[in-house]
Order: sequence, then C-alpha cells, then structure tokens
Amino acid sequence: MAVLPIIIAPDPRLKQVCVPIDRVNDEIRRLMDDMLETMYLAPGVGLAAPQVGILKRVIVVDVSKDEGERQPHLMANPELVWVADEDANAEEGCLSLPDHFGDVVRPASIRVRYLDHENEIRESAAEGLLATCIQHEMDHLEGILFVDHMSALKRNMILRKLIKAKKAGDLPVVESAAVS
Ligand code: NI
Repeated sequence: MAVLPIIIAPDPRLKQVCVPIDRVNDEIRRLMDDMLETMYLAPGVGLAAPQVGILKRVIVVDVSKDEGERQPHLMANPELVWVADEDANAEEGCLSLPDHFGDVVRPASIRVRYLDHENEIRESAAEGLLATCIQHEMDHLEGILFVDHMSALKRNMILRKLIKAKKAGDLPVVESAAVS
C-alpha cells in the first residue's frame, strides 16, 4: 500500500464529476487500499478518490474510534437507494480543507448500494456519523465540498484562508479525527 498526496482546496480536480468504474479489478482494489492507508495516516474518517487526484467513483470510510477495531467501508459507484425524511445537522471537516469546520444538514439515515472490494454488489444502512461521512464522500464524487452547503460568505472566507495558507506554504495541521 502507498500513502497518496491529498489535494487541498481550491483545486479544479475537486470540482469535477467523477466517472463510474466498470468493475472493481486489481487496479481499483489497489486504489481503495492506498486511499484507506492515506486516510488512516491523515488521520481522517473518509476519503474520496478525487481528493487524491483520481476522478473515479471510489470512496473509503471508517468512523470507528478504536484503532484496534477498524471497520473500513470500501465503496465503488456508491448510490443512495433510500434516505430518511428526518434530517441531521452535524459539524463536518474535510482533509481537503484542513482546519476548517462547518455545520451541514443532511438526511439522518440512508441506504447505500455499491460495489465492494471484491466487486460484489452490496447494500448497507447507515446513520449518525457514518451516514454523514458516506454522504460527504459521495458529494466529492459530484465535485461538491462541504463548504458548498454553507453560505457563499462563509465558503469564500474559508477558501481565501486556504489560498493564503497555500501561498505561505504553511497549511495548518489537521488535529481532529472527524474530517473526511
Ligand atoms: Ni472531504
């Protein structure tokens, strides 16, 4: 496995709609494994392929708190097949927007269909942080960042700070584990 560089916003690669994959072959399995390693090291709870410059519909998520009991979810072509009427408001962060956080409202629980690491079609139910994180990662596949759910004022403030930090070469260190 290999650790991949994570793209920091603003970047045109984070604004693209990603393409579906035909099947989970060795190349995609390797991408999933590399993304998972990259996410654990960051550390984060989710990562989408465009964040490492691969414009394919692949995400990895693990919201388990204990390193000894990891529960990785590796998904290709994820699709929501059901969302709850009830919404949840949760604070989100993103490895591509280090050190910035904001509240986002999303359906509180979901069912997602996807191809797993073995190219099997699966369907999983998720709620709480897992549901938030899967939806956040799926947004990345549409070129949507969590700040796109916030007001233009807040979004532009965060993006301007990131541009400044990039120019100064001193991007902040991510300390929270709840970033994806
Ligand atoms: Ni993210």
